[in-house]
Amino acid sequence: MAKAPVRVAVTGAAGQIGYALLFRIVSGEMLGRDQPVILQLLELPLERAQRALKGVMMELEDCAFPLLAGVIGTSDPKVAFRDADYALLVGARPRGRGMERSDLLQENAKIFIEQGRALDEVASRDIRVIVVGNPANTNALIAMKSASGLPRENFTSMMRLDHNRALSMLAGRAGKPVAAVERMVVWGNHSPTMYPDIRYATIEGERASDLVDAAWYKETYIPSVAKRGAAIIEARGTSSAASAANAAIAHMRDWALGTSGRWVTMGVVSDGSYGIPEGLVYGVPCTCEAGSWQRVEGLEIDAFSRQMMDRTLEELLEERDGISPLLS
Ligand code: NAD
Ligand code: LMR
Repeated sequence: MAKAPVRVAVTGAAGQIGYALLFRIVSGEMLGRDQPVILQLLELPLERAQRALKGVMMELEDCAFPLLAGVIGTSDPKVAFRDADYALLVGARPRGRGMERSDLLQENAKIFIEQGRALDEVASRDIRVIVVGNPANTNALIAMKSASGLPRENFTSMMRLDHNRALSMLAGRAGKPVAAVERMVVWGNHSPTMYPDIRYATIEGERASDLVDAAWYKETYIPSVAKRGAAIIEARGTSSAASAANAAIAHMRDWALGTSGRWVTMGVVSDGSYGIPEGLVYGVPCTCEAGSWQRVEGLEIDAFSRQMMDRTLEELLEERDGISPLLS
């Protein structure tokens, strides 16, 4: 028997990530090729944004996707999030050349307060939320705190692009296929302070740290992964879009359908483990099964890792302090 459709809300749906995302969601890449989807698309009320959204909806229609069971386009978060089972919160102001993510903090905080409240009011109680819009971890924290009626575990931020960048750069250096890399971890914030940690990574069963030299790892690899977003902006003149959409699809697919034991990095609410204060949204290694994520527990944290994890933690605490007046 055919499955009942699920409702997927996407904000910033007419933006560049939205354009790289929607067609893949309704082709079944996110929730499975047997799962019909109703898209609920949110854009700003501006005439330009609504007109662009209409164009995207026309193109969706023109694809005649068998899995597309309906499309709603709106500028009202309560319409976009009504009964939604999944939400991809992409809409935010992107970073331009020379801007740091912290510059966007205040501006985007207001968006995520409003959207968290709307999710709380109208979404399915089981909704699973990924925040892509930057600063993604703090925006996820804001949405989570603004939706006190929803489980905190259902709010996540996207660290998967960092995870994928870390996989590709490591595989490239080791001269191995990217699919052979297991147990990658990217700790912390989606920002240049993130800490890609290869201590547990293996490639074709060998320890990754035995396949690359330590100086390259510390001096080249860590900053290259961490600053890849800025390098893309420098090259393209605009921030990553197809790779960001790809990471969002992978994050939601793995959360919904499971990782079969593979580690993936997700920004999730801290339970206090690994010295990360309870309640912050921080990138950690997870496995997923049947619609829930579990933190990989019990990893040893050495002195270098502690220092790196604390550095990115400090930044997240600063971001949290920066927006906390808005939350009270
Ligand atoms: P974009 O400017 O092309 O699109 C953003 C869209 O969001 C626009 O169409 C805009 O009208 C809309 N929007 C803005 N505020 C909105 C609101 N309150 N409600 C609904 N829609 C709204 O930007 P983009 O390239 O698609 O990037 C979107 C966000 O994703 C940016 O914040 C960017 O920095 C972030 N990003 C995050 C990652 C990550 O790894 N977490 C990676 C790439 C980009
Ligand atoms: C990225 O990592 O590509 C995005 O978050 C864009 C940015 O601002 O770095």
